[in-house]
Amino acid sequence: MNDDDYTDRLVSGGAESAEEQVIEAALRPKKLDDFVGQDRVREQLSLVLHSALRRGRTPDHVLLSGGPGLGKTTLAMIIAAELGQPLRISSGPAIERAGDLAAILSTLQEGEVLFLDEIHRMARPAEEMLYMAMEDFRVDVVVGKGPGATAIPLDIAPFTLVGATTRAGMLPGPLRDRFGFVAHMDFYAPAELEVIVRRSARLLDVEITDEGAAEVAGRSRGTPRIANRLLRRVRDYAEVRADGVVTEELAKAALRLYEVDERGLDRLDRAVLGALLRKFGGGPVGLSTLAVSVGEEPETVEVVAEPFLVRQGLLARTPRGRIATPAAWAHLGLTPPPTAPLAGTLFDLDEGADPQQ
Ligand SMILES: Nc1ncnc2c1ncn2[C@@H]1O[C@H](COP(=O)(O)OP(=O)(O)O)[C@@H](O)[C@H]1O
Ligand SMILES: [Mg+2]
Repeated sequence: MNDDDYTDRLVSGGAESAEEQVIEAALRPKKLDDFVGQDRVREQLSLVLHSALRRGRTPDHVLLSGGPGLGKTTLAMIIAAELGQPLRISSGPAIERAGDLAAILSTLQEGEVLFLDEIHRMARPAEEMLYMAMEDFRVDVVVGKGPGATAIPLDIAPFTLVGATTRAGMLPGPLRDRFGFVAHMDFYAPAELEVIVRRSARLLDVEITDEGAAEVAGRSRGTPRIANRLLRRVRDYAEVRADGVVTEELAKAALRLYEVDERGLDRLDRAVLGALLRKFGGGPVGLSTLAVSVGEEPETVEVVAEPFLVRQGLLARTPRGRIATPAAWAHLGLTPPPTAPLAGTLFDLDEGADPQQ
Protein backbone atom coordinates (compact mmCIF):
# COMPACT_ATOMS: atom_id res chain seq x y z
CA MET A 1 0.00 0.00 0.00
CA ASN A 2 1.21 3.46 -0.89
CA ASP A 3 1.89 5.39 2.28
CA ASP A 4 0.10 8.50 1.11
CA ASP A 5 -2.94 6.72 -0.19
CA TYR A 6 -5.79 6.40 2.23
CA THR A 7 -8.39 5.30 -0.29
CA ASP A 8 -7.98 1.56 0.14
CA ARG A 9 -9.92 1.40 3.35
CA LEU A 10 -10.57 -1.63 5.43
CA VAL A 11 -13.06 0.26 7.55
CA SER A 12 -15.36 1.88 5.02
CA GLY A 13 -18.99 0.84 5.30
CA GLY A 14 -19.57 0.20 1.59
CA ALA A 15 -19.02 -3.12 -0.20
CA GLU A 16 -15.86 -2.56 -2.19
CA SER A 17 -15.34 -5.45 -4.59
CA ALA A 18 -17.23 -8.12 -6.50
CA GLU A 19 -15.35 -10.70 -4.45
CA GLU A 20 -16.59 -9.12 -1.24
CA GLN A 21 -20.15 -9.18 -2.52
CA VAL A 22 -19.91 -12.93 -3.12
CA ILE A 23 -18.61 -13.54 0.39
CA GLU A 24 -21.27 -11.27 1.85
CA ALA A 25 -24.00 -13.20 0.12
CA ALA A 26 -22.74 -16.33 1.87
CA LEU A 27 -22.75 -14.58 5.25
CA ARG A 28 -26.21 -13.05 4.97
CA PRO A 29 -28.75 -14.33 7.46
CA LYS A 30 -31.75 -15.69 5.56
CA LYS A 31 -34.45 -15.50 8.22
CA LEU A 32 -35.62 -12.78 10.57
CA ASP A 33 -34.70 -14.97 13.53
CA ASP A 34 -31.08 -15.18 12.36
CA PHE A 35 -30.79 -11.43 11.93
CA VAL A 36 -28.74 -10.23 14.88
CA GLY A 37 -29.55 -7.02 16.77
CA GLN A 38 -31.88 -4.16 15.74
CA ASP A 39 -34.37 -5.78 18.11
CA ARG A 40 -37.08 -3.18 17.83
CA VAL A 41 -36.96 -3.08 14.03
CA ARG A 42 -37.00 -6.85 13.93
CA GLU A 43 -40.00 -7.14 16.20
CA GLN A 44 -41.99 -4.42 14.45
CA LEU A 45 -41.20 -5.83 11.05
CA SER A 46 -42.17 -9.30 12.15
CA LEU A 47 -45.60 -7.96 13.15
CA VAL A 48 -46.05 -6.11 9.86
CA LEU A 49 -45.17 -9.18 7.82
CA HIS A 50 -47.00 -11.79 9.80
CA SER A 51 -50.21 -9.85 10.17
CA ALA A 52 -50.24 -9.30 6.40
CA LEU A 53 -49.64 -13.00 5.83
CA ARG A 54 -52.47 -13.85 8.18
CA ARG A 55 -54.85 -11.51 6.37
CA GLY A 56 -53.69 -12.76 2.99
CA ARG A 57 -52.77 -9.23 1.93
CA THR A 58 -49.55 -7.64 0.71
CA PRO A 59 -47.89 -5.82 3.61
CA ASP A 60 -47.31 -2.07 3.73
CA HIS A 61 -44.33 -0.68 1.88
CA VAL A 62 -41.18 -0.66 4.00
CA LEU A 63 -38.44 1.95 4.11
CA LEU A 64 -35.08 0.91 5.56
CA SER A 65 -32.86 3.81 6.49
CA GLY A 66 -29.32 3.61 7.86
CA GLY A 67 -25.64 3.89 7.03
CA PRO A 68 -23.77 1.56 4.70
CA GLY A 69 -23.15 -1.98 5.91
CA LEU A 70 -25.86 -2.04 8.60
CA GLY A 71 -27.98 -4.73 6.96
CA LYS A 72 -30.49 -2.99 4.68
CA THR A 73 -30.02 -5.32 1.69
CA THR A 74 -29.98 -8.31 4.02
CA LEU A 75 -33.28 -7.24 5.56
CA ALA A 76 -34.88 -6.69 2.14
CA MET A 77 -33.99 -10.25 1.20
CA ILE A 78 -35.32 -11.53 4.50
CA ILE A 79 -38.63 -9.70 3.96
CA ALA A 80 -39.16 -11.47 0.64
CA ALA A 81 -38.14 -14.81 2.14
CA GLU A 82 -40.49 -14.42 5.11
CA LEU A 83 -43.33 -13.61 2.74
CA GLY A 84 -42.39 -16.55 0.50
CA GLN A 85 -42.18 -14.17 -2.46
CA PRO A 86 -39.57 -13.52 -5.13
CA LEU A 87 -37.45 -10.39 -4.78
CA ARG A 88 -36.91 -8.01 -7.66
CA ILE A 89 -33.87 -5.78 -7.18
CA SER A 90 -33.15 -2.39 -8.69
CA SER A 91 -31.80 0.92 -7.46
CA GLY A 92 -32.41 4.64 -7.63
CA PRO A 93 -29.41 5.40 -9.85
CA ALA A 94 -30.44 2.63 -12.30
CA ILE A 95 -33.83 4.27 -12.85
CA GLU A 96 -33.06 7.26 -15.02
CA ARG A 97 -36.44 7.69 -16.67
CA ALA A 98 -40.04 7.05 -15.69
CA GLY A 99 -40.11 4.44 -18.45
CA ASP A 100 -37.43 2.40 -16.67
CA LEU A 101 -39.64 2.20 -13.63
CA ALA A 102 -42.79 1.47 -15.66
CA ALA A 103 -40.97 -1.46 -17.26
CA ILE A 104 -40.23 -2.95 -13.85
CA LEU A 105 -43.63 -2.24 -12.31
CA SER A 106 -45.65 -3.59 -15.20
CA THR A 107 -43.94 -6.98 -15.02
CA LEU A 108 -44.32 -7.50 -11.27
CA GLN A 109 -46.33 -10.54 -10.20
CA GLU A 110 -48.93 -10.21 -7.49
CA GLY A 111 -47.33 -10.13 -4.03
CA GLU A 112 -43.80 -9.76 -5.35
CA VAL A 113 -41.31 -7.69 -3.34
CA LEU A 114 -39.53 -4.89 -5.18
CA PHE A 115 -36.30 -3.71 -3.58
CA LEU A 116 -35.15 -0.23 -4.59
CA ASP A 117 -31.72 0.45 -3.13
CA GLU A 118 -30.52 4.06 -2.77
CA ILE A 119 -34.06 5.17 -3.43
CA HIS A 120 -33.14 8.81 -2.69
CA ARG A 121 -31.18 8.89 -5.95
CA MET A 122 -34.08 8.13 -8.27
CA ALA A 123 -34.91 10.55 -11.08
CA ARG A 124 -37.76 12.95 -10.34
CA PRO A 125 -40.30 11.82 -12.97
CA ALA A 126 -39.82 8.21 -11.91
CA GLU A 127 -40.37 9.22 -8.32
CA GLU A 128 -43.73 10.75 -9.19
CA MET A 129 -44.74 7.60 -11.01
CA LEU A 130 -43.76 5.61 -7.96
CA TYR A 131 -46.09 7.65 -5.70
CA MET A 132 -49.11 6.53 -7.67
CA ALA A 133 -47.89 2.95 -7.98
CA MET A 134 -47.38 2.68 -4.23
CA GLU A 135 -50.74 4.16 -3.39
CA ASP A 136 -53.11 2.90 -6.06
CA PHE A 137 -51.16 0.13 -7.80
CA ARG A 138 -51.58 2.06 -10.99
CA VAL A 139 -49.29 4.09 -13.23
CA ASP A 140 -49.90 6.54 -16.02
CA VAL A 141 -47.74 5.79 -19.00
CA VAL A 142 -47.33 8.88 -21.14
CA VAL A 143 -47.40 8.21 -24.85
CA GLY A 144 -46.32 10.84 -27.36
CA LYS A 145 -44.87 14.29 -26.82
CA GLY A 146 -46.07 17.87 -26.49
CA PRO A 147 -49.75 18.80 -26.76
CA GLY A 148 -50.65 15.45 -28.34
CA ALA A 149 -49.27 13.41 -25.44
CA THR A 150 -51.74 11.17 -23.67
CA ALA A 151 -51.52 9.36 -20.37
CA ILE A 152 -52.58 5.75 -20.53
CA PRO A 153 -53.49 4.33 -17.14
CA LEU A 154 -52.06 0.92 -16.46
CA ASP A 155 -52.98 -1.35 -13.57
CA ILE A 156 -50.17 -3.12 -11.83
CA ALA A 157 -50.28 -6.10 -9.51
CA PRO A 158 -50.28 -5.34 -5.77
CA PHE A 159 -46.68 -5.53 -4.63
CA THR A 160 -44.57 -4.57 -1.63
CA LEU A 161 -41.92 -1.95 -2.09
CA VAL A 162 -38.85 -2.13 0.11
CA GLY A 163 -36.83 1.05 -0.24
CA ALA A 164 -33.36 1.51 1.23
CA THR A 165 -31.59 4.79 1.83
CA THR A 166 -28.51 6.01 3.62
CA ARG A 167 -30.01 9.51 3.58
CA ALA A 168 -33.57 9.43 4.89
CA GLY A 169 -33.42 13.22 5.20
CA MET A 170 -33.03 13.54 1.45
CA LEU A 171 -36.25 11.71 0.63
CA PRO A 172 -39.08 14.00 -0.42
CA GLY A 173 -41.92 14.04 2.12
CA PRO A 174 -44.54 12.65 -0.26
CA LEU A 175 -42.38 9.60 -0.92
CA ARG A 176 -41.56 9.00 2.73
CA ASP A 177 -45.21 9.31 3.66
CA ARG A 178 -46.18 6.46 1.37
CA PHE A 179 -44.19 3.94 3.34
CA GLY A 180 -46.39 2.29 5.95
CA PHE A 181 -43.36 1.23 7.95
CA VAL A 182 -40.07 3.08 8.33
CA ALA A 183 -37.21 1.22 9.99
CA HIS A 184 -34.25 3.22 11.22
CA MET A 185 -31.23 0.97 11.44
CA ASP A 186 -28.75 2.01 14.05
CA PHE A 187 -25.13 1.17 14.70
CA TYR A 188 -24.75 -2.17 16.46
CA ALA A 189 -23.69 -2.65 20.06
CA PRO A 190 -20.36 -4.44 20.62
CA ALA A 191 -22.16 -7.48 22.08
CA GLU A 192 -24.29 -7.78 18.93
CA LEU A 193 -21.24 -7.49 16.70
CA GLU A 194 -19.59 -10.24 18.71
CA VAL A 195 -22.50 -12.53 17.91
CA ILE A 196 -22.20 -11.61 14.24
CA VAL A 197 -18.43 -12.24 14.24
CA ARG A 198 -18.86 -15.64 15.87
CA ARG A 199 -21.60 -16.56 13.44
CA SER A 200 -19.53 -15.49 10.42
CA ALA A 201 -16.50 -17.36 11.77
CA ARG A 202 -18.59 -20.50 11.97
CA LEU A 203 -19.77 -20.07 8.39
CA LEU A 204 -16.24 -19.37 7.16
CA ASP A 205 -14.83 -22.28 9.17
CA VAL A 206 -12.60 -20.03 11.22
CA GLU A 207 -11.75 -21.02 14.77
CA ILE A 208 -12.07 -17.98 17.04
CA THR A 209 -12.09 -17.53 20.80
CA ASP A 210 -14.72 -15.37 22.52
CA GLU A 211 -12.01 -12.82 23.36
CA GLY A 212 -10.84 -12.85 19.74
CA ALA A 213 -14.40 -12.18 18.57
CA ALA A 214 -14.73 -9.34 21.08
CA GLU A 215 -11.50 -7.77 19.81
CA VAL A 216 -12.69 -7.83 16.19
CA ALA A 217 -16.17 -6.59 17.17
CA GLY A 218 -14.79 -3.68 19.18
CA ARG A 219 -12.90 -2.31 16.19
CA SER A 220 -15.77 -2.61 13.71
CA ARG A 221 -17.35 0.83 14.06
CA GLY A 222 -20.73 -0.60 14.96
CA THR A 223 -21.04 -2.02 11.45
CA PRO A 224 -21.56 -5.70 10.53
CA ARG A 225 -19.96 -5.33 7.11
CA ILE A 226 -16.76 -4.01 8.69
CA ALA A 227 -16.86 -6.75 11.34
CA ASN A 228 -17.01 -9.40 8.63
CA ARG A 229 -14.22 -7.74 6.69
CA LEU A 230 -11.90 -7.44 9.69
CA LEU A 231 -12.63 -11.06 10.53
CA ARG A 232 -11.42 -12.18 7.10
CA ARG A 233 -8.21 -10.17 7.38
CA VAL A 234 -7.58 -11.55 10.86
CA ARG A 235 -8.22 -15.05 9.55
CA ASP A 236 -5.62 -14.54 6.78
CA TYR A 237 -3.11 -13.49 9.40
CA ALA A 238 -3.98 -16.46 11.62
CA GLU A 239 -3.52 -18.90 8.77
CA VAL A 240 -0.18 -17.55 7.58
CA ARG A 241 1.47 -16.45 10.82
CA ALA A 242 -0.06 -18.84 13.35
CA ASP A 243 -2.03 -22.05 13.69
CA GLY A 244 -5.24 -20.60 12.29
CA VAL A 245 -6.94 -19.95 15.64
CA VAL A 246 -8.03 -16.35 16.17
CA THR A 247 -7.25 -15.43 19.75
CA GLU A 248 -7.35 -12.01 21.36
CA GLU A 249 -3.58 -11.64 21.02
CA LEU A 250 -3.65 -12.66 17.40
CA ALA A 251 -6.55 -10.36 16.54
CA LYS A 252 -4.69 -7.47 18.16
CA ALA A 253 -1.48 -8.20 16.26
CA ALA A 254 -3.30 -8.62 12.94
CA LEU A 255 -5.31 -5.42 13.29
CA ARG A 256 -2.19 -3.54 14.33
CA LEU A 257 -0.66 -4.69 11.05
CA TYR A 258 -3.72 -3.50 9.14
CA GLU A 259 -3.58 -0.23 11.09
CA VAL A 260 -7.03 -0.40 12.58
CA ASP A 261 -6.75 0.79 16.16
CA GLU A 262 -8.73 -0.27 19.22
CA ARG A 263 -11.49 2.25 18.53
CA GLY A 264 -11.72 1.30 14.87
CA LEU A 265 -9.82 4.34 13.57
CA ASP A 266 -7.64 3.72 10.53
CA ARG A 267 -4.72 5.65 9.04
CA LEU A 268 -6.82 8.35 7.43
CA ASP A 269 -8.78 8.96 10.62
CA ARG A 270 -5.61 9.18 12.66
CA ALA A 271 -3.89 11.37 10.08
CA VAL A 272 -6.78 13.84 10.19
CA LEU A 273 -6.92 13.83 13.95
CA GLY A 274 -3.12 14.02 14.24
CA ALA A 275 -2.94 17.04 11.92
CA LEU A 276 -5.73 18.77 13.81
CA LEU A 277 -3.88 18.30 17.09
CA ARG A 278 -0.23 18.69 16.11
CA LYS A 279 -0.43 21.30 13.37
CA PHE A 280 -3.41 23.33 14.50
CA GLY A 281 -3.31 22.94 18.26
CA GLY A 282 -6.73 21.29 18.25
CA GLY A 283 -8.38 23.87 15.98
CA PRO A 284 -10.60 25.50 15.04
CA VAL A 285 -9.40 24.97 11.50
CA GLY A 286 -11.27 25.04 8.21
CA LEU A 287 -12.05 21.81 6.40
CA SER A 288 -10.01 22.62 3.30
CA THR A 289 -6.92 23.59 5.30
CA LEU A 290 -7.20 20.40 7.30
CA ALA A 291 -7.61 18.36 4.11
CA VAL A 292 -4.55 19.94 2.46
CA SER A 293 -2.48 19.15 5.52
CA VAL A 294 -3.14 15.42 5.08
CA GLY A 295 -2.93 15.56 1.28
CA GLU A 296 -6.56 14.67 0.71
CA GLU A 297 -9.58 16.17 -1.01
CA PRO A 298 -11.86 18.07 1.40
CA GLU A 299 -14.70 15.77 0.40
CA THR A 300 -12.75 12.67 1.39
CA VAL A 301 -12.06 14.10 4.80
CA GLU A 302 -15.63 15.30 5.22
CA VAL A 303 -17.45 12.19 4.00
CA VAL A 304 -15.03 9.41 4.81
CA ALA A 305 -13.23 10.33 8.02
CA GLU A 306 -15.21 12.95 9.87
CA PRO A 307 -18.57 11.28 10.46
CA PHE A 308 -16.96 8.50 12.45
CA LEU A 309 -14.68 10.89 14.34
CA VAL A 310 -17.70 13.02 15.22
CA ARG A 311 -19.67 9.99 16.31
CA GLN A 312 -16.77 8.88 18.48
CA GLY A 313 -16.74 12.27 20.17
CA LEU A 314 -13.20 12.97 18.94
CA LEU A 315 -13.94 15.85 16.60
CA ALA A 316 -16.59 18.55 16.51
CA ARG A 317 -17.77 20.51 13.51
CA THR A 318 -18.42 24.10 14.49
CA PRO A 319 -19.25 27.19 12.44
CA ARG A 320 -15.67 28.38 12.97
CA GLY A 321 -14.09 25.13 11.84
CA ARG A 322 -13.09 21.71 13.07
CA ILE A 323 -12.21 21.30 16.71
CA ALA A 324 -10.60 18.39 18.54
CA THR A 325 -12.21 17.26 21.79
CA PRO A 326 -10.28 16.37 24.95
CA ALA A 327 -10.91 12.70 24.06
CA ALA A 328 -8.96 13.22 20.82
CA TRP A 329 -5.85 14.34 22.71
CA ALA A 330 -6.18 11.39 25.03
CA HIS A 331 -6.69 8.94 22.17
CA LEU A 332 -3.47 9.98 20.44
CA GLY A 333 -1.63 10.09 23.75
CA LEU A 334 -1.00 13.84 23.59
CA THR A 335 -1.42 16.53 26.22
CA PRO A 336 -3.61 19.45 25.16
CA PRO A 337 -2.02 22.89 25.59
CA PRO A 338 -3.97 25.08 28.05
CA THR A 339 -5.15 27.13 25.07
CA ALA A 340 -6.76 24.19 23.26
CA PRO A 341 -10.32 25.15 22.35
CA LEU A 342 -12.04 22.44 24.32
CA ALA A 343 -9.40 21.63 26.91
CA GLY A 344 -11.18 20.64 30.06
CA THR A 345 -14.61 21.75 28.88
CA LEU A 346 -17.72 19.81 28.17
CA PHE A 347 -19.26 20.43 24.83
CA ASP A 348 -22.45 19.46 23.09
CA LEU A 349 -20.96 17.15 20.51
CA ASP A 350 -24.17 16.76 18.58
CA GLU A 351 -23.96 20.33 17.46
CA GLY A 352 -22.81 20.56 13.89
CA ALA A 353 -22.74 16.79 13.51
CA ASP A 354 -24.09 15.28 10.32
CA PRO A 355 -27.42 13.80 11.41
CA GLN A 356 -26.96 11.01 8.87
CA GLN A 357 -23.93 9.59 10.54
N1 LIG B 1 -28.06 -7.99 11.61
C1 LIG B 1 -27.11 -8.70 10.97
N2 LIG B 1 -26.79 -9.93 11.38
C2 LIG B 1 -25.81 -10.62 10.76
N3 LIG B 1 -25.12 -10.16 9.70
C3 LIG B 1 -25.43 -8.94 9.23
C4 LIG B 1 -26.43 -8.16 9.84
N4 LIG B 1 -26.52 -7.00 9.17
C5 LIG B 1 -25.61 -7.06 8.19
N5 LIG B 1 -24.94 -8.22 8.22
C6 LIG B 1 -23.85 -8.60 7.33
O1 LIG B 1 -23.19 -7.42 6.87
C7 LIG B 1 -23.03 -7.43 5.48
C8 LIG B 1 -23.56 -6.14 4.93
O2 LIG B 1 -24.95 -6.08 5.07
P1 LIG B 1 -25.88 -5.40 3.96
O3 LIG B 1 -27.26 -5.89 4.17
O4 LIG B 1 -25.31 -5.62 2.60
O5 LIG B 1 -25.77 -3.86 4.38
P2 LIG B 1 -26.34 -2.56 3.63
O6 LIG B 1 -27.25 -3.02 2.53
O7 LIG B 1 -27.06 -1.80 4.70
O8 LIG B 1 -25.16 -1.81 3.14
C9 LIG B 1 -23.76 -8.67 4.95
O9 LIG B 1 -22.84 -9.56 4.42
C10 LIG B 1 -24.40 -9.33 6.14
O10 LIG B 1 -23.94 -10.66 6.21
MG1 LIG C 1 -27.04 -2.65 0.48
